[in-house]
Amino acid sequence: MTTVRAIETMAGDDPITMLTAYDAPTAALVDAAGVDLILVGDSMGNAALGYDSTLPVTVEEVRSRTAAVARATSDAVVVADMPFLSVGVDEAQSIDHCGRMLKEADADAVKLECGPHTVELTKRLVELGVPVMAHLGLTPQQVKQTGYLRQGTSKAEAQEILDLARAHEEAGAFSVVLEHVPANLAAQVTEELAIPTVGIGAGPDCDGQVLVVNDVVGLGDSVPPFAKQFGDVQSAMMEAIGSYVEAVESGTFPAEEHSHVEPDLDELY
Ligand code: KIV
Ligand code: NA
Repeated sequence: MTTVRAIETMAGDDPITMLTAYDAPTAALVDAAGVDLILVGDSMGNAALGYDSTLPVTVEEVRSRTAAVARATSDAVVVADMPFLSVGVDEAQSIDHCGRMLKEADADAVKLECGPHTVELTKRLVELGVPVMAHLGLTPQQVKQTGYLRQGTSKAEAQEILDLARAHEEAGAFSVVLEHVPANLAAQVTEELAIPTVGIGAGPDCDGQVLVVNDVVGLGDSVPPFAKQFGDVQSAMMEAIGSYVEAVESGTFPAEEHSHVEPDLDELY
């Protein structure tokens, strides 16, 4: 079984792999593939719940999906992604929301979209026994302020990201996700930190990579330019579903082998 402690010491080792999952069957596949960390991302808003951003996702949705993923996972570290406004409003409430992911959903850690306001919270959570993965760069819960643009493109912004990465390491985070930042910034953050960086749209020099599983398997309609589609599950599903519809409509399903005839039931009146 992979642990948070093991991940924390993987900086500079073999690349770390992380993928999202939002349900038990997908988590079982991701886990069986040997992925180190499974993120129950608030990307479920787009990928699984039909929203067009992550903003509407609730603590209860992440809790319930995390529990399903944890039940189906035996090796990977399960990380629950804290949704919009579930942390940062009030310390006690933030800790309660994060703690529920461990107490009620069997997560191994939480991920926070970070800023200056999450440094103290990270310290407090780690003190209390809740491992924290920090998320810097593009933080999609800030979409109303930043859009989905690449972050850290000016020297001042890049410096702020590096400083926040250091502050969250100091506060006890066990790793840092870097999203949609220049590769040369991600390389410097990776070089600076003792804890591992996990990149998405952050170039090849992070200690690991993370993608949304729907993008990887080809389920859904648009893959961001920095992601890569490795399969075409959507076509496979459409083919299977189309075949089912055709079989029912043409009367070839259910066939004899899918049916059971009980002797003695033929003469009801
Ligand atoms: O919600 C998510 O899937 C994420 C990853 C893209 C890092 O936050
Ligand atoms: Na997220």
